[in-house]
Amino acid sequence: MATKNQTLGEFIIENQAEFQYSSGELSRLINSIRLAAKMVNHEVNKAGLVDITGSAGNVNTQGEDQQKLDVFANNTFIKTLTNREIVCGIASEENDDYIIIEGQRCDNKNKYVVLIDPLDGSSNIDVNVSVGTIFSIYRRVTPVGTPVQMEDFLQPGNMQVAAGYIIYGTSTMLVYTTGHGVNGFTLNPALGTYYLSHPNMTFPETGRIYSVNEGNYNHFPQGVKDYIKYCQKEEEDRPYTSRYIGSLVSDIHRNIIKGGIYMYPKSSVANNGKLRLLYECNPMAFIAEQAGGAASNGYERIMNLKPSELHERVPFFCGNKEMVEKVEEYIQKAD
Ligand code: AHG
Ligand code: MN
Ligand code: MN
Ligand code: MN
Repeated sequence: MATKNQTLGEFIIENQAEFQYSSGELSRLINSIRLAAKMVNHEVNKAGLVDITGSAGNVNTQGEDQQKLDVFANNTFIKTLTNREIVCGIASEENDDYIIIEGQRCDNKNKYVVLIDPLDGSSNIDVNVSVGTIFSIYRRVTPVGTPVQMEDFLQPGNMQVAAGYIIYGTSTMLVYTTGHGVNGFTLNPALGTYYLSHPNMTFPETGRIYSVNEGNYNHFPQGVKDYIKYCQKEEEDRPYTSRYIGSLVSDIHRNIIKGGIYMYPKSSVANNGKLRLLYECNPMAFIAEQAGGAASNGYERIMNLKPSELHERVPFFCGNKEMVEKVEEYIQKAD
């Protein structure tokens, strides 16, 4: 039972049934994530005052310019999870390869792997716009007691045990699911405690927001162009409202609350779009579905895709179910 204003700690204890197979391991893992998120939040809030904005001077494995906060958030999450020996492996958007965690205490006995986008929307840091963190948790498939392998990370999204995001916004929130609905917790920064502020988050029945980088319009597939025209048409409850922050976490969070669709299609310059299947699309798809929405690559359910590499990208359409179905219809009609 989700009781408004209970703390995240209380919620986890009261909802142990969600974690029944984990013997406390998954609860400890969520606890570590909430702790690391507080540290990142503290740093994000100081951006502008201390030398934490701007480029770190490195290019990550995705070919992106790493921001200082990308590096800080990545190190913070990895260190927090590694020192506590809570998971057996971590894969991050900011690292070329996955990390094996085989400390003395855990001896490869932990059951979970974490995949993480430590700082999402990093191009927005310097202009004081909300950024986030996205995480996805799986049970390993290789035998406990041995080092994790690539196949532990390359599981389809429908095998996720839990997923969530943190939004460092006007307030900081942790939103997550273990497959029993979606709950959102707001951080009280004075106390350092997260309180259940958004129990059982669900998309409103109808959505009227579309979120896409329209600067890429000329490069989109015809079906996506047609759907955008449909959104803009003055008919029934349209035109829809266009809202695009450029931070996936913030765009999806808004659309869950207000109702809408987020789109990052493929284009003539980026064959699979931009978003990463493992760190961004799968966790957001799990959350969206648990909130009564849907997520697709235009043809198939995102969570049914079998990943072939860690940093794989996929076209992404996520939001209210009927909006996702409508864009799929346009895409498939134009083929
Ligand atoms: P990240 O900062 O983790 O690399 O992710 C950036 C992503 C996502 O947050 C956002 O929705 C998208 O990039 C925006 O891309 P465009 O600037 O191409 O619209
Ligand atoms: Mn990035
Ligand atoms: Mn991202
Ligand atoms: Mn990122």
